[in-house]
Order: sequence, then structure tokens, then C-alpha cells
Amino acid sequence: MATFQPLPGFRDFYPEDLAKRTHIFRLWRQTAAAFGFAEYDTPVLEPLDLYRAKSGDEIEAQLFSFTDKGKREVALRPEMTPSVCRLVGERAGALKRPIKWFSIAEFYRYERMQKGRGRCFHQFNADVFGEPGPEAEIELIALLVQCMRAFGLTQKDFCVRLSDRNLWFHYLGSLGLDDARIRALLGAIDKYERSGHEAFKPYEDAFGPLPEGLKDKVLAFLAIRSFEELESALGADPAAGTAARLADWRKLLGGLSAMGLADYIQVDLGVVRGLAYYTGFVFEAFDRKGELRALAGGGRYDDLVGKLGGSELPAVGFAIGDMTFALLLEERGLSPAVAAAPDVYCVIGGEAERRAAFADIHRLRSGGYRVEYPLKELAFGKQFKAAAESGARLALIYGGDELARGVVKMRDMGTRTEREFPASEVEASVRGFFAGP
Ligand code: HAM
Repeated sequence: MATFQPLPGFRDFYPEDLAKRTHIFRLWRQTAAAFGFAEYDTPVLEPLDLYRAKSGDEIEAQLFSFTDKGKREVALRPEMTPSVCRLVGERAGALKRPIKWFSIAEFYRYERMQKGRGRCFHQFNADVFGEPGPEAEIELIALLVQCMRAFGLTQKDFCVRLSDRNLWFHYLGSLGLDDARIRALLGAIDKYERSGHEAFKPYEDAFGPLPEGLKDKVLAFLAIRSFEELESALGADPAAGTAARLADWRKLLGGLSAMGLADYIQVDLGVVRGLAYYTGFVFEAFDRKGELRALAGGGRYDDLVGKLGGSELPAVGFAIGDMTFALLLEERGLSPAVAAAPDVYCVIGGEAERRAAFADIHRLRSGGYRVEYPLKELAFGKQFKAAAESGARLALIYGGDELARGVVKMRDMGTRTEREFPASEVEASVRGFFAGP
């Protein structure tokens, strides 16, 4: 018989896998709520044009796209950012600012598969709209850090690498490069850490060889790892725009420091981000050991809402992926234990006892207790074994003898002690047991 596997890069979630995923989503939701972010969602299938020339060549090449029966060109969403820009753009006038929104959703990219990368994955997205200053970045980077700390991860496990496409534009412009060359060079810088000098090939194919002096300057700027190095690279007397930008840097780093998060931040001009729409600060979260692909990425994209047809609206945000994040939790032993044990297991005699038990079972379940019982009649021995294996803390025993006397027996599965109580007091007795002495 033929068996069907999920498509390459797609995952099935068995209950124990889904329990882990649900736990991750629950803590992300709680954290976002603590920061005052509101949850939204969008369709999985979008018009192809939403991504064309907006997300960048790499994502465009990875789209799952097709023509639907109405001859529309459509794509499964590869990311949330263009969709959320549409939502916010449409109601920009009516929404109270700053707009702080988050979502947890599934995305599709036809990628080469590797550890922590699939073709179908989830992201937690958080974005702030309507705030042009670095105050928005402080809020978001603090949220990003807390989304990881909530699981017990610390500054020993991960860091947020912080960079600035705005300063890269200033710097490469001051070296005489035009916009097209700057964008192509940023593409090379994005790939440099993994591909080395090979990364410059697409630039050189398009614009000819990069003069050695210029390449050295690019590599020196890319190697900057502290704010002090950044200040001195820009010179004692930077241009007015650059000086204002350095003031933004001071505000951002000062704010994060005041929140007690300085140890999580690593200035790193080698980060420029692969997506085309970023305009300012950009950041990525990585595991400290450098064993995994990026945990999260984001940055400022002040032009995108306007480009997608809404009014101009400054924006900044990030997304955490669930795959590398789950791997990191697993490696650090921080994955949750899957607790699926019932509170109560009912051991039931014959058909008549079953009817008495059902009334209690339904009442207890309605009261929020997790209650299980054997779906089919079983010998008492087998039922007690099932009760022990289930991990339930309490067994209720509905035997013919007990019911004839108008009582139900309760066994504490931990201490193995038993006591009886009137059949009419089951709910109160269970409640008393779980409330403790
Ligand atoms: P991104 O860097 O493309 O940014 O993705 C963010 C995170 O999603 C990555 O760091 C990674 O953890 C996860 N991710 C991306 N692709 C895959 C994949 N194929 N398999 C597994 N995980 C993956 C964005 O998507 C931006 N839209 C983020 C953003 C929100 N910028 C502003 N707001």
C-alpha cells in the first residue's frame, strides 16, 4: 500500500510536538500582551504582486505561487510584513498611534532545506507603526529579548546583533557609490559572513571589479563591533545627517541599557538583512555558540506602507522563527515537559455503574477537571493499571458493591490511600481533594 509523506520541508505535528509548539506560542502571546501589543491575522494566500519587488529577489525566488481558477496570480505568504502594511495602511487615519501589533502565523518559502530551515514554518511578528524615532526600536528589541528570556534563555544563550542600513547608505554614499551600487553591495555584505569573498561576485558581475581600496574600506566598516568603533570610523566631525544618526544610536543603546538589557546587545555592522525594504536600524538574534541559523530578524522599514498604497507611515518590527528557536530550547534543555495527565481516572464496574459514573464525569469535566475513563468495559485490574499509567492523581471507583451502598470510593494515586463518601458528594469531594488540606 502506498504511504503518503508530507512534502519536503513540511512538518506533521504529533500531539507531543504540538504541545511544545503550543507552549512556545502561549509564552510569546503572554509576553506580547505584557508589552501592550494587540493580535491580528491575515490570509495565507495573497496576490503575488504584494511581494513582487517589495520583499527582495531572494524571497521572490522562493515563493510558492500559482494562478488560481479565476486566473489571478497568487502566492502563499512568505512573510507577514507586506500584509500587515496593507492592514495598517487601509486604516492608518483611524488607528490610535503608536500602533503596536503582533501575530503568530504560518509561512511558506521554497528554500533549500537545512537544519532549522523548512519550507513551511511559523513566525511571531511584532511591529510598531507611527513612531519615527528609536523609541520604537527600544520597545521592539526589549520585546524580542523578553520573548526569549521568558523560556529561561539568558545572555549566555543568545544575543541581538544591531546594525544600521541608514549609516551604511551614508558611508557608501560618501565613498562615491550610487543607489544601485549601494544596494548591490549591501546584498554582498549580507552574504559575506557565510560566503566570504564569493559574496561580492554578483556585484562585480553587474558593476565590474570592486577597487581593492574600496573593498578594504567596506570590510573595515563591516568589522565594526562597538559604538565607539562606529563613532571613530565616521570621523571626529561627521556630516550633519550622520551626527543626528549617532544621537539616535546613543538614545537606542541608552534606552536598552536602562532596561537592563545591555548584555544582550552586540553592535555588529556585518548585519544588513537580506530583505530589500529596510531603511534604518536592523537587527538579528543569534545563539551565542553560532551553531544555528538566525533566531529572529527585523528592522525599520519607513517606506513600505506608502509603497503598498497606504499613506506614509514609519514602521519597525521583527519576526522570530519557531524552528531555530525550538532547536535552541531543546539544546539547552528548556523544552517543556509535556504534561498530558488527567486529574481523575474513573474505574467503573458494569453498565449500571457506568450510567452513575457518566453523570459525575460530565459534571466534573464541566467544572474544568480533566477526567478520563475506559471507553469499553474492562476488568478492574486492567482499569487500575490504566489509571496508574495515565498519571492521574485521583481514581474514582464505581463498583457494584459501592453503588449498592450509595457511595463512591476515592483513591489517592500518590499515597494509595482510599476513602468512601456519599455518591451525591462526588464533585465536592474531588474539589476538596484538589484544593488540598
Ligand atoms: P526574516 O529574517 O526573513 O525576516 O525571517 C525572520 C525569522 O524567520 C528568521 O530569523 C528565521 O528564524 C525564520 N525563518 C525565515 N525563513 C525560514 C525558513 N525557511 N525556515 C524556518 N525559519 C525561517 C522576515 O520575515 C521579516 N518579515 C521580519 C520583519 C517583521 N521585519 C519587520 N517586521
